[in-house]
Amino acid sequence: MATTSNYTMDAFIEDARKIVAEFGEDGQEAAARLFPLVEKAVWFDGLMDESKRVPPESGRSRFYHYRAPDESLLVYVVEFVPGMPTPTHDHVNWGLIGVCGGKQLTTLHERIDDGSDPEYARLKLLEHRVRERGEVHSLVAPRDIHTIETVGDEPSYSLHVIGGNLTRSHRNIYDVETCKINPVTGQRM
Ligand SMILES: [Fe+2]
Repeated sequence: MATTSNYTMDAFIEDARKIVAEFGEDGQEAAARLFPLVEKAVWFDGLMDESKRVPPESGRSRFYHYRAPDESLLVYVVEFVPGMPTPTHDHVNWGLIGVCGGKQLTTLHERIDDGSDPEYARLKLLEHRVRERGEVHSLVAPRDIHTIETVGDEPSYSLHVIGGNLTRSHRNIYDVETCKINPVTGQRM
């Protein structure tokens, strides 16, 4: 397997913009078409270029690569330091996450009730496994409730390709034990 790629972020973003322009309204389709491109993009060594790093939000550094003017596409890398898991949360917007460094324990749940109760959700565990560089998963509601936690002593990194602007979205944090929902707006996870 390759350890570097000449598929640059510029090339990826150009391809991603075309897919989003054509299929962005259909999250399932957009994520399916972007999936193989994200699998290639995570091998580009410029992903964690220090010039792209912005000050930490919610304690996590991010490396921003692209934000569409119409907010239809957001591309960035998140640095996850050990001992600081995300809450269990949804994205509402469709997205893909590709590990580009270190090891990440990712847990994915699906909401299996009808969504009518704003305070409680019934969740079904879909995946709970460690991912390494090159592994990608897509998040499309209702299969978009997830947790990310770094495994080991080194930070892990993943490329996030999101069909919207999470800094403004209304999203939910879930208590997996009690199924209670905590709605948030614009919160970084
Ligand atoms: Fe997330």
